[in-house]
Amino acid sequence: MRHFISVNQLTVEDIYSILETAENYRTHEVKLNKQLFVANLFFEPSTRTKMSFVVAQKKLGLEILDFHSDSSSVIKGESLYDTAKTFESIGSDLLIVRHQSDSWFEELDDRVSVPIINAGAGKEEHPTQCMLDLLTIYQEYGCIKGLKVVIVGDIKHSRVARSNAFALRKLGAIVYLSAAPGFEDDELDFPYISIDEAVETCDVVMLLRIQHERHLHKAETSDYLELYGLTKERERKMKEQAIIMHPAPINRGVEIDTDLVECGRSRIFKQMENGVFVRMAIMMNVLNEWGIITNENNFKKR
Ligand code: CP
Repeated sequence: MRHFISVNQLTVEDIYSILETAENYRTHEVKLNKQLFVANLFFEPSTRTKMSFVVAQKKLGLEILDFHSDSSSVIKGESLYDTAKTFESIGSDLLIVRHQSDSWFEELDDRVSVPIINAGAGKEEHPTQCMLDLLTIYQEYGCIKGLKVVIVGDIKHSRVARSNAFALRKLGAIVYLSAAPGFEDDELDFPYISIDEAVETCDVVMLLRIQHERHLHKAETSDYLELYGLTKERERKMKEQAIIMHPAPINRGVEIDTDLVECGRSRIFKQMENGVFVRMAIMMNVLNEWGIITNENNFKKR
């Protein structure tokens, strides 16, 4: 693949290959023996994605060019394109980009000569989150085909919902959406069910945060948990083996009862752990595809 921008560009084989590589990196150390630079260009806040990329990069032995948009020349009006070209010019071999625009990639594609990995595009795509979510489900069930997965919450403003719904369907899962009035997205062609039906029928209950930063007006949340969220009462009605997921950050007490965040069914912190290995696998994949590294010559395993 040229750049890692969307889950839609991946075949079923591509997805499972990345998941297998990520699993392998959990138990086998990989270290590049070639000096390579990577720039983490985050124009939106991030804790998990950015820092798991940093851990993944350190594990691979990449040299990190850190970037803080609020203390960079972005403040002087520099564009995303000129920022990316600057990092390309000074020797970055790989760019990791998160930006509030849904389509920031169109500004860079074909004009930037180093690989780019999408770490979040507005409300449109979050493909590395999707891959770590798929790994978490795969670890749990050993397969994805035939599983019933519900994505619950602020679907309309969620890039995680988009990436996951399409990838899960591609892998043969039966995907449902569940949302409060106003949080549905008519452009997504998936059936909607109530949270009460979802908890009783689905193998995976994937919760989403209300994306206040993408709303024109702050949503009222005082009765959201009771009406649309995962309460303790609803959790008791879940199938015996069913799991709870959430990309985080979490609004505890809004989309999920705070006591459920670390309950036996929750895989929320497992998802974060998986993020490191999945991002290692994705970076190695694009560096290999571009011929920047080769399996034989440019890294060693122990
Ligand atoms: N899940 C996720 O993207 O979290 P961050 O915004 O903290 O990176």
